[in-house]
Amino acid sequence: MSTGIVTVAYIAAMVLFILALNGLSNQETARKGNWYGISGMVIALFATVLGVVTNNYIELMIALLVGGSIGLLVAKRVQMTEIPELIAILHSLVGLAAIMVGYANFSDASSHFSGIDLTIHDIETYVGVLIGTITFSGSITAFGKLSGRIGSKPLILPGRHTFNLVLLVAVTWLGQQFVVQSAVGSGVLPLVIMIALALVFGVHMVMAIGGADMPVVISMLNSYSGWAAAATGFMLNNDLLIVIGALVGSSGAILSYIMCKAMNRNFLSVIAGGFGGGNVKASSGEVQDQGEVLTISATETAALLMSAKEVMIIPGYGMAVAKAQQIVSELTSKLREKDINVRFAIHPVAGRMPGQMNVLLAEAKVPYDIVFEMDEVNDDFSQVDVSLVIGANDIVNPLALEEPNSPIAGMPVLECWHGKTSIVLKRSMATGYAGVQNPLFFKENTQMLFGDAKDTLVEVVAAL
Ligand code: TAP
Repeated sequence: MSTGIVTVAYIAAMVLFILALNGLSNQETARKGNWYGISGMVIALFATVLGVVTNNYIELMIALLVGGSIGLLVAKRVQMTEIPELIAILHSLVGLAAIMVGYANFSDASSHFSGIDLTIHDIETYVGVLIGTITFSGSITAFGKLSGRIGSKPLILPGRHTFNLVLLVAVTWLGQQFVVQSAVGSGVLPLVIMIALALVFGVHMVMAIGGADMPVVISMLNSYSGWAAAATGFMLNNDLLIVIGALVGSSGAILSYIMCKAMNRNFLSVIAGGFGGGNVKASSGEVQDQGEVLTISATETAALLMSAKEVMIIPGYGMAVAKAQQIVSELTSKLREKDINVRFAIHPVAGRMPGQMNVLLAEAKVPYDIVFEMDEVNDDFSQVDVSLVIGANDIVNPLALEEPNSPIAGMPVLECWHGKTSIVLKRSMATGYAGVQNPLFFKENTQMLFGDAKDTLVEVVAAL
């Protein structure tokens, strides 16, 4: 394939990736966005394999087959609730690739850089490997936290900011050493020491972040993986990789900013760690007694819904766990048939990844026009007759507004308690992701419908 065709193919792929991002920004166009992304990647792969690579085709095909098959298998098997962990582990692979390409690039005896070109090349390699290593170890730690293999409490080491500062100074000094030594044909030692320090930094950075702030970390690592890919693009002199990396890097950074705003967090404080842990005593699974809890049966729930005019459904992580989206959709249709106004209120960090609730509801064919963002409906609860809180906990926790020491302090929440009645569907009194009790469950106008959300909703729909 000629260089001209490769360039045209790369430009087409870039345009498709930009269209993909645009499509993914809205649930109605998300499916189309996905197809743009897939087409862009296919074109990029073909153009690179046929136009840029000039040898080792057999190894390349084997790698594509093995990698592609693993990807296909994992994508088929993964549960919707496990997507965040999957994303974290995939980010770690981008980081690992940046380390390997950087190291291979550094040890490539056939490269003939000299003078200022060599210095620039070395800086590219060093920065690429540095970002790649932080992405790698940070993402693996995030995977551990999201999958529950590592506790969600923030690890607050004494003098952690000084520790980070020392690491930063050391890494900068090693970078200078690397460039100087590389000019005389060595430099492997500072590179390897930097990798070790960056591994520690990545782990420490994510360990210091509390469970409630993990959403920001996921999008931040997404951004890092983009910059790692862009750095790899510089090392390989591949324009397409630079552009894709920059797109992922900047969109991840923008997403982190939006999520920080949604959770009322300061981005720098989240990254510096220690947020999202709080001083509230209750830990995962336990809840302090706050008075009496009122319970309700499925039949009573159905009766209450039938007498309502305005119903607000608040889905949370538990809806995903219970795989209750289909029955929620059925319930919605039944209520709408009876001229009851049903709306969905989606919190920006409901579930375990951005947009998770929207994806599930779209999959179950809930009409888009009754699904609203938190800000669009949070002032409407005073007119709501019944709020159905389905497997949600932290996102409807009044402590976020009332308790400054809470791990979720300052996070805006869906204030369903201002409505006439809230019915909470969950299995027990256990806490949510942030590990804090929820005073909503003890309010006079709240009733608990205990059980697996899917099972209880099947009963409610039958009773309707
Ligand atoms: P959570 O606070 O995690 O609460 C989910 C609730 O669902 C739990 O209290 C659980 O109670 C219940 N549940 C679990 N399985 C269930 C089932 N089969 N049937 C019925 N209920 C079930 O969820 P949320 O309110 O959606 O809040 C999200 C939390 O995750 C926030 O703290 C957020 O910061 C964090 N987070 C979000 C993201 C993103 S980007 N969305 C990423 C990482 C973390 P029982 O065990 O009693 O049933």
